[in-house]
Amino acid sequence: MEKLSAGIIGCGNISSIYFENLRMFDVVEVTACADLDIERAKARAEEYHIPHAYTPEELLSDPSIDIVINLTIPAVHAEVAQKGLQAGKHVYGEKPFAVKKEDGKAILETARQKGLYVGNAPDTFLGGGLQTCRKLLDDGWIGKPVSASAFMMVPGHERWHPDPAFYYQEGGGPMFDMGPYYLTALAFLLGPVKRVTGSVNITYPERTITSQPRYGEKIKVETPTQINGVMDFCNGAVASIITSFDTWHHQLPHIEIYGTEGSIVVPDPNTFGGPVYLRRHDHSEWTEVPLSHGFTENSRGIGVAEMAHAILTGKEPQANSRLSYHVLEVMHGFLESSKKDQHIYMTSSCDQPDVLPTGISKQNFDAVMTREGGR
Ligand SMILES: NC(=O)c1ccc[n+]([C@@H]2O[C@H](COP(=O)([O-])OP(=O)(O)OC[C@H]3O[C@@H](n4cnc5c(N)ncnc54)[C@H](O)[C@@H]3O)[C@@H](O)[C@H]2O)c1
Repeated sequence: MEKLSAGIIGCGNISSIYFENLRMFDVVEVTACADLDIERAKARAEEYHIPHAYTPEELLSDPSIDIVINLTIPAVHAEVAQKGLQAGKHVYGEKPFAVKKEDGKAILETARQKGLYVGNAPDTFLGGGLQTCRKLLDDGWIGKPVSASAFMMVPGHERWHPDPAFYYQEGGGPMFDMGPYYLTALAFLLGPVKRVTGSVNITYPERTITSQPRYGEKIKVETPTQINGVMDFCNGAVASIITSFDTWHHQLPHIEIYGTEGSIVVPDPNTFGGPVYLRRHDHSEWTEVPLSHGFTENSRGIGVAEMAHAILTGKEPQANSRLSYHVLEVMHGFLESSKKDQHIYMTSSCDQPDVLPTGISKQNFDAVMTREGGR
């Protein structure tokens, strides 16, 4: 099988799972890694037997690398993606796609001009949990989807994260941090969004770090930490979402979808597995549904492998840049709506990603993708 070569830029926390998981696919091989802090790149290269530990510039100028995997911090996602594209590489990045909409749009434009692929996390919707939910919807188990709810409410990351200030700056907050998981899952299940409405607050203008080593330091909050939104989907469904760093406790679900004939409880979209529950109008109780697809454990990186197959077969990747840009526009829409006191109509759209073939698993992924292009 033809194999593409990938280089990881950004060797921080999340990189380990990419190095680990990308070993399981035949279609892509990580041959280099880089970081602003070269010692981090060297440490990862040693740990995972990666041939080259580079500076970011060296990685970009290595002609053997086909795909740049951008695992840097959100503030530089767009800059690193642009550099990758300018160097003639395909790019797959961590979420969010970019901080500013203009930067996201510019990435789409550069990729179009250069004929290169851009894919983006989250790829959790390729996991068995969300794939099973989508199959239930496609098979008509709950009839036509009418509405949905989504909740991500926590007290804030200054309690545990060693350096949490960035969560309270532009591009942070609960919407930009966790919204991509929830909104990508909803776009996968319900399709693109037509318009959004939001009410947002900076509940606490200043927060105090209670984790180590910055215990006691104050953070000035520059982005909303309470975001209550409504989305009207192009398919007619209406969804409510709350993302919050201002909530101590709650008993609300991650995501639920309500249809004309029943309801589905969707698992945490920041994970790949279940449980998935279904209750039709004529059921007396909820039933846990066996998962119809594999990749139910932490499979971060499957989006990269899927994109590599898409490059080789000339198809659009599932975790593609139009989807990520649409999600970015929705997230900004909630903030804009609140500021302007009006509904915000989306200027972008995306295709609803296809459901993967049932029974897909680690063991058969490359073979199925090569045979069917995964569709
Ligand atoms: N940590 C998690 O649990 C987690 C989970 C899901 C997604 N993510 C996403 O993954 C991305 C990275 O998160 P993380 O937790 O690994 O962050 P991190 O701070 O641990 O690592 C980021 C790395 O990028 C490097 N870097 C920063 N700017 C760079 C540049 N211009 N060129 C090259 N290297 C650069 C830093 O030196 C650092 O090693 C973020 O977008 C985050 O949203 C993180």
